[in-house]
Amino acid sequence: MNSVFGPPSLALSMQRYRRHASGYDASARRGERWRTAAIETLALRAGETVLEPGCGTGLSFPCMADAVGPAGRVIGIESSTEMAAQAYRRISAHGLTNVSVIEGAVHQVPVPPWDALLLHYVHDILRDPRSVAAIMAMGRPGARVAVIGMRLPSPWALPLWPWILMRAWPYMTTFEGLREPWSHLLPYLDGWTCRTIKYGTGYFGFGRLKQGLRP
Ligand SMILES: C[S@@+](CC[C@H](N)C(=O)[O-])C[C@H]1O[C@@H](n2cnc3c(N)ncnc32)[C@H](O)[C@@H]1O
Repeated sequence: MNSVFGPPSLALSMQRYRRHASGYDASARRGERWRTAAIETLALRAGETVLEPGCGTGLSFPCMADAVGPAGRVIGIESSTEMAAQAYRRISAHGLTNVSVIEGAVHQVPVPPWDALLLHYVHDILRDPRSVAAIMAMGRPGARVAVIGMRLPSPWALPLWPWILMRAWPYMTTFEGLREPWSHLLPYLDGWTCRTIKYGTGYFGFGRLKQGLRP
């Protein structure tokens, strides 16, 4: 059995998202304002490549595809076949010709080079140093990184923790690092800024990839 403070479990995640896929979009609706804010922070330009590891059903795709234009690329990486199937449906429903999905776990697939990176509610990926290293190895120097997710608020809000953990559990397979979920990103980034959102239960971070990280 998976320990709640152990490393993320890909098998458990794939099992969970098999069930979530059909209802995922409805459950994510309340957070759309923050998704838009994260994409705006990336300041995408025509012709750029933006990567979204753990892209899920592709809710971010239409907005990002529009921002990078026909000469740019939006690339998702997704380990759940059922979530990826919803993403393909969205790509086709919106007629998005500049969007593709790489199916598989981040640490198991070839990560493409990117100019901008969106990490939106992907705690399991953030808490796997192999995945973080694989992603960061392919960013262009100075590339922009926007991160949003759930976190545990400071200990003064301890009575809230059980409620937060209960809400979080369906979407992540470990609580490890839930006070500072972004911590594995920091060695790779310059100019990191992070603010608390959603009354302390969320965070919104931004940074730029350090120079000279790529071989
Ligand atoms: C909470 S959903 C977020 C989806 C999307 N980013 C959004 O905000 O709508 C997390 C997604 O990450 C995917 N995921 C988890 N671990 C992964 C891994 N190691 N590699 C690729 N995808 C992963 C899950 O299958 C799920 O679709």
